[in-house]
Amino acid sequence: MEIVELKKGIYWVGAIDWNVRDFHGYSTPFGTTYNAYLILDEKNVLVDTVKAPFYLEMLGRISEIIDPSKISIVVSNHVEMDHSGSLPQMVENIGNPTVITSERGRKGLEKHFQKSMNFRTVKTGDTLSIGQRTLTFVEAPMLHWPDSMFTYIKEDRVLLPNDAFGQHFASCKRFEDEVEDEVMRHAAKYYANILWPLAPLILKKVDEVVKMGITIDMIGPSHGLIWRKDPQRIIQAYVEWSQGKGGRKILIIYDTMWGSTELMAKAILKGLLEEGAEAKLLHLRSNHRSDIIEEMLGARGILLGSPTLNNGMFPTVGDFLTYMRGLRPQGKFFGLFGSHGWGGGAVREMRKSLGQEKFEVWEKELSVQFIPDKEEVKNAIQFGKEFLKCIEQRA
Ligand code: FEO
Repeated sequence: MEIVELKKGIYWVGAIDWNVRDFHGYSTPFGTTYNAYLILDEKNVLVDTVKAPFYLEMLGRISEIIDPSKISIVVSNHVEMDHSGSLPQMVENIGNPTVITSERGRKGLEKHFQKSMNFRTVKTGDTLSIGQRTLTFVEAPMLHWPDSMFTYIKEDRVLLPNDAFGQHFASCKRFEDEVEDEVMRHAAKYYANILWPLAPLILKKVDEVVKMGITIDMIGPSHGLIWRKDPQRIIQAYVEWSQGKGGRKILIIYDTMWGSTELMAKAILKGLLEEGAEAKLLHLRSNHRSDIIEEMLGARGILLGSPTLNNGMFPTVGDFLTYMRGLRPQGKFFGLFGSHGWGGGAVREMRKSLGQEKFEVWEKELSVQFIPDKEEVKNAIQFGKEFLKCIEQRA
């Protein structure tokens, strides 16, 4: 196995999951990695482990560097099992090391594994000398679980923030400068689908880390590539995404039964394009919900279209709204349109769903019966133009 050294004495010893395609509802067409880090010092430290089926892969990497029984400290930055799954086996194998975690981490690990471990809990600002180096711990509750924590290696200026700044991207490369064109795209999808609801906390945490005087040369997240060349680039991107600084795009997200809602979606797109907007159509059964959420990061307006089924919205629209509402995307303006046969109900139900999370929704809406005629197509073109005007007036 190739040995990957981040800085002298600090190694990546994680695992590459080439095959995972669904990460609890998030599509991962490029797989992912589970990153664990080994620090060699007077006390040898392992920071995080890997998902349980990858235990031997991690152990193999560690064994190429040192005898695993020489690890005396394991830091668990996060309880979720993609990072803690191998912890019980590791603890057993190396003979009861000290397990450093937050207080909530301790409770979570006990509940997950019902196994006694030699825990030492830490709080923000706590430090631990391991010889030539000092580890500093920063609690990061709800980034993205209550137990989440960052570990900082002061002398090397390396931040190990677990899930923050990660990407679901399997690769033979380990550093972002080795795949520059691709990395931001994977990081954006990861942020939008995992961290977007926590945007206010991210802004506060970045502020807190700056005030603690933590300077960063390198960021080793728990998924994907390590930020070596320009770690500030991903920090700045997180700040901008969290501030809701979206792009210019307008997205038309829709489903259709017999083509009427799609016909309207295309007419609305025509209206937007005629006014010079950057816009695109996203059909809900042709695009995974997690890819649509990534697109939303760069959008300022969202037009949602649904046919009426059983007096309500189409099931795929309901699925998407449930997912999207939980992610609470900031700073987007919504418009609604649809079609119906007799009683209607899709647009009403979409409005109600968006209202539960207090999204900004345009008062005007459009629904046609059966198949849009020429006049209704013209209305849809006009609807697109007016939506754009409304967004521009808000800016
Ligand atoms: Fe929250 Fe990568 O687990």
